[in-house]
Amino acid sequence: MHRSPVERSQGNTSPNGRKVLENLRKLVNAFGPFGGFSQHSGQAKKNAKMVSSPSVYDAEPIPAAARAEIDALLASGDLFRYTAASGSPVAELESEFAEFMGVPFALAVNSCSAALFLSLKAIGIEPGDRVLIPAFTFAAVPSAVVHAGGEPILVDVAENYRIDLNDFEAKLSQNIKAVVISHMRGHTSDMDAIMALCDARKIPVIEDAAHSLGTIWSGRKIGTIGRIGCFSFQSFKLMNAGEGGMLITRDPDIIARAIIMSGAYEHNWKKHPVAHDRCIFWQNKLPLYNMRMNNLSAAVLRSQIHEVPRRASDGRANHDYVAGILNASPWLNVPAPLDLELRAPDSIQFNLRGFDSDEEAEAFQRSANEKGVMVQVFGLSEDNARAFWNWKFIGHQSDLKQTRAMLMRACDVRLPARLRKNDLDFIANALVEAAEDVKKTDQKGCGSPIRTLVRSA
Ligand SMILES: Cc1ncc(COP(=O)(O)O)c(C=O)c1O
Repeated sequence: MHRSPVERSQGNTSPNGRKVLENLRKLVNAFGPFGGFSQHSGQAKKNAKMVSSPSVYDAEPIPAAARAEIDALLASGDLFRYTAASGSPVAELESEFAEFMGVPFALAVNSCSAALFLSLKAIGIEPGDRVLIPAFTFAAVPSAVVHAGGEPILVDVAENYRIDLNDFEAKLSQNIKAVVISHMRGHTSDMDAIMALCDARKIPVIEDAAHSLGTIWSGRKIGTIGRIGCFSFQSFKLMNAGEGGMLITRDPDIIARAIIMSGAYEHNWKKHPVAHDRCIFWQNKLPLYNMRMNNLSAAVLRSQIHEVPRRASDGRANHDYVAGILNASPWLNVPAPLDLELRAPDSIQFNLRGFDSDEEAEAFQRSANEKGVMVQVFGLSEDNARAFWNWKFIGHQSDLKQTRAMLMRACDVRLPARLRKNDLDFIANALVEAAEDVKKTDQKGCGSPIRTLVRSA
């Protein structure tokens, strides 16, 4: 007999039951981050009281190995990266991260947005310069371009969330000074094609790898392919310090410029063991934007670098398991990765198929939320920061019909690496059932064509 996700969860035995209640409490608390769900939050909260669902907003605990260093910092109060003559936790993190990524230079800063901004300044973006960015990204990306004085130009994105290479090539010849490639939600666009097109025109590429730490493209680590790679350490990312970012490069002039502009005033650049000749050259020639990381954040992060491969492979296994279930539904489609891509996802994106009206897509979103799984349809949640038409601060852009159509049916669900099979089944079943609920209603109670439920072991 078919049991709903709610009924299945109510059958949990008691250790699990306690966990379930705890998760439920966290779920209710977790409604805060859902900026786009405010219109449904009352209903969702009501339902969260009745069902159990895995909390997808909890990060993994910070490894215990970080504690000794954090305690020492708390005891000494030495939180500023430039107090020590050398070897501060931030400087150590930079060396360790650079080594992990296989590049000579890394600069730790207080966010990925700061890393993107400094990257644009370091490659010499001047006021009014045109910077090509994908139309599917987070608002922080056009914001970094505007902050650097540039003009964001949006390139269309296809149904599989990757850059449309025809539109990319066409726009690249429109006086573009730099390109930012957001590997949005960890989906890698064809980096071979992008680099060939940009190299031929000597246009620098900045990789926004905020969601792509751990992803491999054609045997190369994402973030090491363009001139600069930028990473985020905000809580929902693979390495978590609450906030934080990293800029990596192989170019000594870029790292020297970024170090100085990040806030290495006077001779503090000497506390970075790299590119001193270039720092001497740039001394006093650049503004200071003060976007430094502090030692506590670095201590929290250092203990997580070695976790990246495990988190990446767990996240991929979770994603692929759920994708298999969703793809068995006639109403849901998870686009396949590109052949050269080995992903490190901590969320899942899928497209609604055969949902012809926005009302249907909204009904799906509502139904999934009522079952305890928070879904955002990017283009339908109010004021979504990933919907380009909400970036009113960048002025008029041509209508990007392809990206708009994708955003109106593309769904987003968090799927952190720490979830277990029960959690994944709960989420996948809720999504499949939510789609079936809507379609059943459409078919005036005729029943759904296919059931694709998964039983937890
Ligand atoms: C694609 C993308 N790029 C950049 C950023 C900015 O990261 P941060 O919050 O570290 O500034 C985000 C934030 O989540 C993002 O989603």
